[in-house]
Amino acid sequence: MSGQESTSTFGRPLLRQNVWATRFGFYLAAISSALGLGNLWRFPFVTTENGGGAFVFLYFGVAIAIGLPILIGELMIGKLTRRGAVAAFRRLESDEDLSEGHRPGTFRAGPLAAFGCLLIVSYYAVVSGWVLHFLMQFAFGNFGPLGQASGHDVDLTLRLLQENGGMQFGLASVHIVIALVVVARGVQGGIERWASWMTPIFVLLMAVLVMKSLSSGQTVEALRFQFYPDFSRLNWNALQQAIGHVFFTLSIGLGTMVTFGSYLKSETHIPSAGFRVTVLDLVISAVAGLLVFPVSLGLSASGGPELLFRSLPRLLQDLQSGWFVGVSFFVCLYLGALAASIGLFESLVANIIEVFRLDRDRAVWLTGLVAVAFAAVPALSGSSLSHVSVAGRSVLEIWDSLAVNWLLPMSGLAFCLAVTRQLKASAATAEFQSDDSPITQSLYAHWRFAIVWIGPIVIGLGFLLTLIGWLLKSFGG
Ligand code: TRP
Repeated sequence: MSGQESTSTFGRPLLRQNVWATRFGFYLAAISSALGLGNLWRFPFVTTENGGGAFVFLYFGVAIAIGLPILIGELMIGKLTRRGAVAAFRRLESDEDLSEGHRPGTFRAGPLAAFGCLLIVSYYAVVSGWVLHFLMQFAFGNFGPLGQASGHDVDLTLRLLQENGGMQFGLASVHIVIALVVVARGVQGGIERWASWMTPIFVLLMAVLVMKSLSSGQTVEALRFQFYPDFSRLNWNALQQAIGHVFFTLSIGLGTMVTFGSYLKSETHIPSAGFRVTVLDLVISAVAGLLVFPVSLGLSASGGPELLFRSLPRLLQDLQSGWFVGVSFFVCLYLGALAASIGLFESLVANIIEVFRLDRDRAVWLTGLVAVAFAAVPALSGSSLSHVSVAGRSVLEIWDSLAVNWLLPMSGLAFCLAVTRQLKASAATAEFQSDDSPITQSLYAHWRFAIVWIGPIVIGLGFLLTLIGWLLKSFGG
């Protein structure tokens, strides 16, 4: 293990003792943090709620124009400060080599980002619990014998699960414990090893399933739904939702990528890493759409967070070797969710270690307890808290919307400001431009423009349009 032990600018020993073993290991870890329920679970249902192709168009545009530049910015902050988000923001104010000093208009978003991680990881754990449940249903053959499709089973399983808050809470807690056991073992022993074998299998299984899905008869409708942009179907808050989802799916805005960047070796070229992660993530989302939409378009009630769980088992039940593919698929989906949760937890734990000066084990315990407590609320969304709803949305959906559509873009904005106003331009240039590749010199100007102007303006516009939509709804009747 290549450890890194030196003294920080504050004279205390550096806490960053982990470095990725190989560059490939980092790619896999960053990719496995990005790939997860965001692509398979969230993308299909948010796209369905927003009318299809036009939203996909917005989402892809926002991912390239804002997501990628911020991802690069986050990785860069991490790599240069060698800190998790909270301490990184502090260092960006005080370290003379890196910082332009305290500049008006910037704020330390570290605590906001850490709080966001907690919000996301706790409801993510609940949905990961659903995946675990479906995995077990497949494994025990409860979805009926091979080839005998029975839609009733799927809906019933889902309803029973949703109404059983205790079981959801239990499954979410199991998920949190599993993720934290990996995190407790440190970066290389845990995350990197998981990621390196899981991602390739998953991609392969998705390919098999897409073939099956595309032969299901609804292919043309599904392709049209996903790719034909009918802008009249967009709501006022579609832009904000697209931004939130881009942040969610690329794991940016909360400093997870700052933490990952802080484990990067100095020779890794960040923009190339960011580009690969973004493109792969978009491709996987598009593929997930092709997997879900041909089935979901044929369902009567197909919206909401249950969408994936309604459509996928139907596809699998129809398959000749459905049991095997089903179990492998849900194992991989679960491992994908686990890897993403590990990334979130790792970033929380790194922050706690640095801020409270705790050792890793204590930080892991503390994080686990708080996360389990938080997870209780979304876990009870369909049972004890089923009477609570705002505009027809359940507690889980409200939680999702607040964390993803509001908090993520806000703290993402803080990362834009940190890069553009606090990080020394010379440090950023040196990190971005590589002598071997002249193209990085012109790309640097584009990156800078995107993060200084496009990011803040589009995020601001997203909020503004949502507010206009609200006002029109309240006063326009
Ligand atoms: N990107 C992951 C997914 O698509 C979720 C995730 C992991 C995340 N780390 C994050 C979301 C940090 C926001 C911030 O499933």
